[in-house]
Amino acid sequence: MDINEIKIVSGADKNGNPEAVEELIIRKGDILVLAGPTGSGKSLLLSDIEQLANGDSPSGRRVLVDGKIIDPFSTRITACLSQNMHFVMDLDVGSFINLHAKSRRIATSNTVEKVLELANDLAGEPLSANMHLASLSGGQSRALMISDAALISNAPVVLIDEIENAGINKTKGIQLLSTEGKMVLIATHDPTLMLTAQKRIIFKNGAMAKLIQSNDIERKHLQYFLEIDRVLESFKQSLRNGNRLDEETLKALIELRGVNHGQ
Ligand SMILES: Nc1ncnc2c1ncn2[C@@H]1O[C@H](COP(=O)(O)OP(=O)(O)OP(=O)(O)O)[C@@H](O)[C@H]1O
Ligand SMILES: [Mg+2]
Repeated sequence: MDINEIKIVSGADKNGNPEAVEELIIRKGDILVLAGPTGSGKSLLLSDIEQLANGDSPSGRRVLVDGKIIDPFSTRITACLSQNMHFVMDLDVGSFINLHAKSRRIATSNTVEKVLELANDLAGEPLSANMHLASLSGGQSRALMISDAALISNAPVVLIDEIENAGINKTKGIQLLSTEGKMVLIATHDPTLMLTAQKRIIFKNGAMAKLIQSNDIERKHLQYFLEIDRVLESFKQSLRNGNRLDEETLKALIELRGVNHGQ
């Protein structure tokens, strides 16, 4: 299904007061981040979009697809990736990819290869076609789902709820979905992901309280955030492998601190 925009017509916060952001429009290729404290309503907005709410959810929001209310039972426009996602199907990875591609009539001789190549570009630990779906780790499952959403699924909207701890190259995955023309919405507490998006909505007490447009100076911050993430990731790997931290690793950290103070 091809759609050009989704419009969210606001509802009310948890006390029944109108939301400050009255209307939100998401277009093809947009990346929108949902930020705000725990319990502030980020996941509910994702669910409003998934269910194509029509004033019938706790927020009272309405979701218009290309200007129209559509029946959520007749058309599914979203692919969802959530924190606790695991496969329960009794299939290996290759058969899953093949089945999905065939059901969409886009299977070619190298579909499995292409989807796996992309998933492996995102995942920490490599996946192969003969692995059983149920045996994949959280990070591997999410890498496969992002790759599937980008290359096979025809869902024009991808909803992502907190994938920060999944151990995958999240910024790369999200950029990829966006360049495939998807509308990508990400609920997150991760500052790097927040800056990956052009726009972010700040939630408060169940309401869309503020819409912030990213700018050049924030994009410069992003470069440093990515560097900090990269260093932290290498420390994480090292600690996971049972290594000890020492004078050398401390020196690397101090140097990084220097970089971030502009020295
Ligand atoms: N506008 C609203 N009106 C009524 N209830 C709401 C509203 N927004 C959120 N809620 C309810 O508040 C609870 C917390 O919201 P939600 O799970 O969306 O928070 P969250 O921002 O995703 O939190 P976390 O960061 O912990 O995942 C849910 O039960 C949700 O249904
Ligand atoms: Mg949530």
